[in-house]
Amino acid sequence: MDPITAVTHADPYPYYACLRARAGLVFDPGLGLWLASSAAAVAAVLAHPECRVRPPHEPVPRAIAHGAAGRVFARLMRMNDGERQRCPRAAIEPGLQQVHGEEIGQRVTALLPGLPNDLGARLQHCQFRLPVAVVAGLLGFSAQQLPAIAERVADFVACLSPASSQAQLDAAHRAAEQLSRDFTALLGQTPGSPLLQRIVKGFGAEDRDTLIANLIGLLSQTFEASAGLIGNSLCALLKDRHLLAELRAAPSRVDELLAEVQRHDPPVQNTRRFVVAPCTVAGVSLEPGDGVLVLLAAANRDPQLNPEPDRLLLDRQARRSVSFGSGRHQCPGQALALSIASAVVGALVRHSNLEQPLGWTYKPSLNGRIPLFHPLPESR
Ligand code: HEM
Repeated sequence: MDPITAVTHADPYPYYACLRARAGLVFDPGLGLWLASSAAAVAAVLAHPECRVRPPHEPVPRAIAHGAAGRVFARLMRMNDGERQRCPRAAIEPGLQQVHGEEIGQRVTALLPGLPNDLGARLQHCQFRLPVAVVAGLLGFSAQQLPAIAERVADFVACLSPASSQAQLDAAHRAAEQLSRDFTALLGQTPGSPLLQRIVKGFGAEDRDTLIANLIGLLSQTFEASAGLIGNSLCALLKDRHLLAELRAAPSRVDELLAEVQRHDPPVQNTRRFVVAPCTVAGVSLEPGDGVLVLLAAANRDPQLNPEPDRLLLDRQARRSVSFGSGRHQCPGQALALSIASAVVGALVRHSNLEQPLGWTYKPSLNGRIPLFHPLPESR
């Protein structure tokens, strides 16, 4: 196993424990990257001002640099440091935090009648389509527009992997163009949704392309991370039938399940940082051009962060987790993502036959742990 294959391995956690035992930052010659796996090393890298989100020589991946998807990517707060991150973030973050859990529950309930009957297809829809539809609805898109928006977001996200095919890259450029048009039209409607109004007000005279790119960014950040969060919560229930029965009896505990699964089996297993000036991080001297793989999922199981870290404990006290990152780029969508996932998993627990035998494989990915479910023959 290596830190990349670990992401989609059935159980990467014993391997992560071995990495953590080496402490500090360790160089992986195979990957050509430094590895941060302990809680202290992960925190040090994410907090360090010289550790940036993109390599300075390639702010936009070469494969998409010359098209519409690249133009969106170049403006995302997630993919920038300094003012180009701070300004959009200051405009967007407060609005995201004002969305009420109750409204999210209502939006999820309104989307449930459109779910496919087949359980595998239903779960996939709940993982990938529902969360993005909820966020697009909050931004003001109409119910009729939501399926097409979710489709375009899926196409756009596909270009973010280095393994994307030319056909996927072409589709991503088309999706980026179409989403830009969708948001331009939405911004022309008055009054916008409460969330959109707050974001637009926060942007002030900021340029429109940056606003639109970061609105697309909200949808694209929602897409795979939420699919993984919902999926990994379902895996926890499918592995432990008692837990499923417990939640059926006390559905209000679904929030606790989500809070623990995001730590125990996180959807974003790692992120990366690139060194831009000589610096010392976690006692190691780094040089410009060095890359660091930040193993969030390994840090969450560090006993320094949580006692009995390998146990899934719904009533865990003072839980600590870096699943949503930390420092300047810490996920501004955390509360929203947890509310959406909780509403979706709660609905599945109440209304779907999760006792039916289901297996899963993980979607190929360098950093996302996203199970894809399929029915198993009854006899197994
Ligand atoms: C409603 C769903 C979500 C939205 C709208 C959202 C939005 C965002 C945005 C805009 C950023 C970039 C922040 C910045 O660079 O300043 C971000 C970062 C991040 N998000 Fe989320 N997110 C969502 C769900 C999730 C979920 C479910 C997870 C994982 C449990 C997650 C994990 C992260 C992490 C780890 C980062 C930081 C990456 C880094 O520092 O390299 N997000 N998110």
